[in-house]
Amino acid sequence: MSNREPIGVIGTGYVGLVTAAGFAELGNDVYCIDIDEAKIAGLERGEIPIYEPGLEELVAKHRGRLHFSTDINDALEHARLLFVAVGTPPSYSGDADLTAVFSVVGSMPPEGEHALIMKSTVPVGTGRAIKRRFEETGRSNFRYVSCPEFLKEGSAVKDFLNPDRVVIGDDGDWAGDAVQELYAPLNAPILRMDIASAEMVKLASNAFLATKISFINEIANVSEETGADVSEVARGMGLDDRIGPKFLQPGIGFGGSCFPKDVSALKQLAGNSGYHFQLLSAVIEVNELQKRKVIGKLKRSLGSLVGKRIALLGLAFKPNTDDMREASSLVLAGRLQGEGAEVVAFDPIAMEEAKHLMPHGVDFADDELSAVRDADAVVLVTEWEQFGKLDWNEIAGAMRGEVVVDGRNALDPDAVRSAGLRYEGVGRGREGDPADPAVVAGADAQPASLGSGPG
Ligand code: UDX
Repeated sequence: MSNREPIGVIGTGYVGLVTAAGFAELGNDVYCIDIDEAKIAGLERGEIPIYEPGLEELVAKHRGRLHFSTDINDALEHARLLFVAVGTPPSYSGDADLTAVFSVVGSMPPEGEHALIMKSTVPVGTGRAIKRRFEETGRSNFRYVSCPEFLKEGSAVKDFLNPDRVVIGDDGDWAGDAVQELYAPLNAPILRMDIASAEMVKLASNAFLATKISFINEIANVSEETGADVSEVARGMGLDDRIGPKFLQPGIGFGGSCFPKDVSALKQLAGNSGYHFQLLSAVIEVNELQKRKVIGKLKRSLGSLVGKRIALLGLAFKPNTDDMREASSLVLAGRLQGEGAEVVAFDPIAMEEAKHLMPHGVDFADDELSAVRDADAVVLVTEWEQFGKLDWNEIAGAMRGEVVVDGRNALDPDAVRSAGLRYEGVGRGREGDPADPAVVAGADAQPASLGSGPG
């Protein structure tokens, strides 16, 4: 019998479900609430609506501790701590849409000792606004805590159980203490601070990580022009303790449910308070341009793209997820079609999701080999592990053309080239450029370091 207190989790999306399963693993009874009846019915049958490694097993393991319902009273009755993990999508103005958050606030009863623990990413000042709402509606007993999530898709369960830090923004009352108690067994640094600062930690962390990606993408673009190899540059930079090696992987832009939304939300938040956050405008612009850079690369090799068949390998915004939100593949496919190309696509997991979101007319292939058949060019969009093991001789045999654009620097350039194909990565010099040692030294020369660095 666990002596840990039962909790509620409102919203059984990505964050809510991982949080619920994580706390169940720590021994809490968790009352999971969602307004989506079909989703709750599915969860009761053990069906997990998202693809996340380890989540299904964890939910199955703790079936006895996880209770699913569409009625918020089920959580209110059993738990005083109610984690809020509802969506906060961007609205037309660029501000976060807080409709779902305020609908939860509105559904709180007039009395009782409860606290809302905000997991959803919200603008700085939301906690203050919610506390004011509680005051105005005579619910001054309610407490509020900001406890932002930092989970990465694809490793969310692991991230929950081994966080780098737990941030708790509160008013120094019982609710903050109780949340601290909940996370104590994880042995992670727990930071207590005021609510506005906790809200800002989340936005600032994601904006900083996005800045790191746009920065290395610009270094990659300059490296391409000047003959440097960005993989080597990143390796050299990353060993500086102050910089660190992570998030220095150039590619065709960041996507997902968090970075694009949070960067815009912070820029908007700053703008609303009269401050122009210049750096973030550049981060966003660089990212948009980066998604389109592949088009230039293809045109340099193929000329006009009209009627050309282009195979996209990988569609999800990153590997190990079926999440297509803000995936670079969406923009790329649309741009390719805009140039008159035929687009054929394959993703090992995200295909069903992709079918709802990809532009009309995209062909979906059942596997890698069918995708590349008769293609003039292949573009690696998402670095799924299996694409690193492709047999390039077989692929070369199936393709009509010979162009391979590695949008994530995840392929082995030598393997691609020795199959007689033309390889172009991101920021690794250009095939055919004078800066390419293979060209300078003649075709028979040993492949030099340029373009053969680690993926
Ligand atoms: C991110 C944050 O990491 C997490 O802390 C937050 O809670 C939610 O947002 P996630 O969206 O799952 O998590 O993805 P992440 O692994 O951080 O990658 C985001 C995007 O950046 C992906 O499109 C990825 O391909 C791209 N990326 C990441 C790069 O292009 N280069 C890198 O070096 C790292």
